Amino acid sequence: MDKQALIELIRQKREFRDLDNAFVGKMLGTVLKARKAEDLKTKDAVKAAKETRALLREVYGAFLTPKFFQREKFLQGIKSLNDLEAHKSVLALHLSTKERLPFYETVYQKIFAITGKPSTILDLGCGLNPFSIPFMHIPNLTYYAAELAKADAEFIQEYFTKAGVRGSTFQMDLTEAGKFPAADVCFMFKVIDTLEAIQWDITAELLARLRAKWIVASFAKKSLGGRKTIKPEKRQWFERLIEKREYKTVEVENEIFYVIKGL
Ligand SMILES: C[S@@+](CC[C@H](N)C(=O)[O-])C[C@H]1O[C@@H](n2cnc3c(N)ncnc32)[C@H](O)[C@@H]1O
Repeated sequence: MDKQALIELIRQKREFRDLDNAFVGKMLGTVLKARKAEDLKTKDAVKAAKETRALLREVYGAFLTPKFFQREKFLQGIKSLNDLEAHKSVLALHLSTKERLPFYETVYQKIFAITGKPSTILDLGCGLNPFSIPFMHIPNLTYYAAELAKADAEFIQEYFTKAGVRGSTFQMDLTEAGKFPAADVCFMFKVIDTLEAIQWDITAELLARLRAKWIVASFAKKSLGGRKTIKPEKRQWFERLIEKREYKTVEVENEIFYVIKGL
């Protein structure tokens, strides 16, 4: 089967439709390894499509709630930055932000007690986290947000325009990324495990390239849905990576945040 046709087949599922061909093609490449799509029998092509979808689900689709695709409707409910309930309805559309809802106030208080209140934030693999800006209580904040799918980055931009948030959003595959805007604080909430699943050892390179005074990287302490505890040993590699830097941790029930001094 032609590679392009196989990519289109993978993208037929609603949850992957917003991902671009280049990223889907890259994930298909990791499944195919040395094989060429054109040489596959139909049965093997279908199997490769299935395996690629499983990977895409792990790094993207698994976090989206069914109502995520009605996000426009929820955005229309936001009348101003003070409208906390409407912001919470949008945050609940993505599992990472939904799970953080009871903790946002405390988490930001504790993080900013270490970093000081930032004027500029860069949020990498942001999901719907920019909708938590009202919980930060920072006047005159500038916010840069990066997401994998163009439609997701555009959705955040639409919110910024509507709510009068200063900043911009951009589509970026962080495993291919070039330059980042400078920021006081860079958020990498629950994104490192995801990126490592795409490209092993990408984190060291990313951390070295960031131009931020502080980096706040978080990891899940429980599996999606909260059923299984993720052992702290799973994060030892990351602690070794940052051992020469100054850092503190902030913890809530489901998540641990490493607040790391930038270079
Ligand atoms: C577990 S979610 C975390 C979302 C958000 N940071 C939060 O904690 O609320 C992981 C996010 O990484 C994004 N992502 C996955 N692979 C990416 C890549 N290669 N480049 C940029 N973002 C990526 C996904 O789209 C998803 O929004």
